[in-house]
Amino acid sequence: MKIIAVINLKGGVAKTITSDNMADILVSVHGKRVLLIDNDKQGNTSKFFGLHGYDKKTISDVLLDPKCNIRDVIEHTKYKNLDLISANMDLMMANQKLILDSTRIQQIILREKLKVVKDDYDFVIIDNAPDINIGVMNALVAADEVIVPIKIDQFAFDGLEQLIEYFDSIREGLNPQLTFRGCLVTQYANNKTNKDGTEWLASKAEYPLFKTVIHRTVKVDESTFYQMPIMRHSRYCRASLDYQAFVKEYLQK
Ligand SMILES: Nc1ncnc2c1ncn2[C@@H]1O[C@H](COP(=O)(O)OP(=O)(O)OP(=O)(O)O)[C@@H](O)[C@H]1O
Ligand SMILES: [Mg+2]
Repeated sequence: MKIIAVINLKGGVAKTITSDNMADILVSVHGKRVLLIDNDKQGNTSKFFGLHGYDKKTISDVLLDPKCNIRDVIEHTKYKNLDLISANMDLMMANQKLILDSTRIQQIILREKLKVVKDDYDFVIIDNAPDINIGVMNALVAADEVIVPIKIDQFAFDGLEQLIEYFDSIREGLNPQLTFRGCLVTQYANNKTNKDGTEWLASKAEYPLFKTVIHRTVKVDESTFYQMPIMRHSRYCRASLDYQAFVKEYLQK
């Protein structure tokens, strides 16, 4: 079971779109079993799969309740072999309570809990908040790999250096095996800014980069409205083909 954390300190760069579509493509094209974890209080991944709510156990219970069995929190989505742990606004308080809990090591909770399902899934994909908090730290300590979606704009690279330094500190501390698999350029438009920004990223050895870029297309916005992975909403649109190519590249790399 491989655990992937999708992360960027910036908001709106397509962490959620990438996590959800990567999960769907791994399941529907490559026949994998995938667990998606919504690790953002906004709950966008949960909403995307129609599983957002307050009447059930969520990632907050996994992190806060030592007795909580992760199997009791996992829900099936309507897609075969694609399961989800949802999140809601309670995650904000859960993160705060966790920091105050000095009775256990708070950064390794998710890693320990995921061991229970290690034979149930081929991949776990964690969609993170645009932030570093104790929940996100748990994701990075649990993860084998990180993927950093990047939307090229004037502020695209703000915080990237700090994020990489943060990966280093996690590697030096609790998770030596954490691999930075790469940056993924998302919402790509055919203009000079995107071209120059992508070339700049490619020239930096310290930032591994996926060759595939995900083009911007209105179909992606539509797919969130209809709560359908892009492949199921519009199989042959540009972003759908791009995400399929990205997952192929990810699996081959
Ligand atoms: N390839 C694309 N083409 C067009 N729109 C896109 C594309 N990818 C993402 N978007 C849009 O960009 C917005 C942000 O995407 P998303 O929610 O995945 O970002 P995020 O990084 O998860 O944001 P947050 O930090 O708030 O969690 C959404 O409205 C989404 O529909
Ligand atoms: Mg998101």
